[in-house]
Amino acid sequence: MKNKEPLILGVVVFFTLVTYYLVEPFAHHQMHKHVESEGFEYADIAKFTPTTNVAHGKELVTSNCTACHSINVENMPAPMDAVTSAATYGVNPPDLSNAGVVYDAKYLAAFIANPAKAANVSHKFNDTRPHPMPSYNWMQASEISDMVAYLQSIAVKAKDLTPAMAYENACGRCHAVHYEKWTQLGTKPAFKHEKDGLAYDIKVMEYEDSIKAYMGKLPPDLSMYIRSRNEHFISTLVENPQNHLAGTAMPRVGVSAETMEKVIEHLEDAGDAKRHEREAVGKNVMIYIVIFAIFALLWKKQVWRDLH
Ligand code: HEC
Ligand code: HEC
Repeated sequence: MKNKEPLILGVVVFFTLVTYYLVEPFAHHQMHKHVESEGFEYADIAKFTPTTNVAHGKELVTSNCTACHSINVENMPAPMDAVTSAATYGVNPPDLSNAGVVYDAKYLAAFIANPAKAANVSHKFNDTRPHPMPSYNWMQASEISDMVAYLQSIAVKAKDLTPAMAYENACGRCHAVHYEKWTQLGTKPAFKHEKDGLAYDIKVMEYEDSIKAYMGKLPPDLSMYIRSRNEHFISTLVENPQNHLAGTAMPRVGVSAETMEKVIEHLEDAGDAKRHEREAVGKNVMIYIVIFAIFALLWKKQVWRDLH
């Protein structure tokens, strides 16, 4: 045969197409199972009957919850600093100022009644190793609803919950986001002296040791997750981690659908910090190209005019 090249090209193209259209999607499907979103409905949790006795709810929250949780908007401080809290409970109990808007109301009530069950981590806890937050299933359902009503009454309006607040409340006690300077202790301040920065880092490490002991592994830094895994993966993982990673220590967090959108927006800001800037620059580049093209045309005309 004189010319083998077309044949070789044909073979290469054939195998490339087979890999691309058959093998790769199959492998991808096998390694990442597809999970449909359930719309943050939490269908497995029983219906919730809202009540309106906010004052009673406040009484119950103040006498039961502030032993572990801070409520900053009500000037109720945390009983311990975050590092000591994590050493005691495994993780720092989140501030409850905005719990009423961050979490789905039905989920919140179910979580108060039985945290391990609502969070789908019953497999990790039992009588000898109870969940660090007690179950309040000895209370009347209406009492739990009153607490939810109180937490809703002190929270910001849903539209005022910023993406950063949503993230901080729902994920921030477990996951760092180094691109945003977020540590599980809060946003790392700019220290004047290196020594103070290092002291802060040591506190973060102590906190991370506690959470590792509690969860079995350190929750990963989420700076780049929005790029390495897409939005659909992250949303459906949060909706029910067990659907993706059977047996995982990551709890179901119980956020509302709106909160989840904000969490995603925050992760997009972190993983792609320049996206707003880039979109703005894009427009300027287009304008520049148009102007440049006009000048190039005029110049070309002039050069040819001189030649003729
Ligand atoms: C003995 C300490 C303790 C008490 C008392 C306590 N909690 Fe907690 N709570 C925790 C800890 C620890 C966590 C974090 C658990 C985790 O993330 O695994 C937590 C988590 C939460 C969360 C986050 C839920 C989620 O899905 O992420 C909410 C909301 C909450 N508590 C509300 C309450 C309310 C309301 C009360 C009072 C009725 C209360 N807690 C009483 C220790 C406590
Ligand atoms: C109480 C601690 C805790 C909270 C709160 C929490 N996570 Fe996690 N998360 C974990 C742990 C532990 C893992 C590691 C799970 C594993 O590998 O089994 C994890 C893993 C992940 C992963 C990686 C999964 C993978 O397959 O690589 C993502 C993404 C994630 N979490 C997102 C979130 C988001 C978003 C939130 C807030 C809405 C959140 N998590 C809240 C503990 C937590």
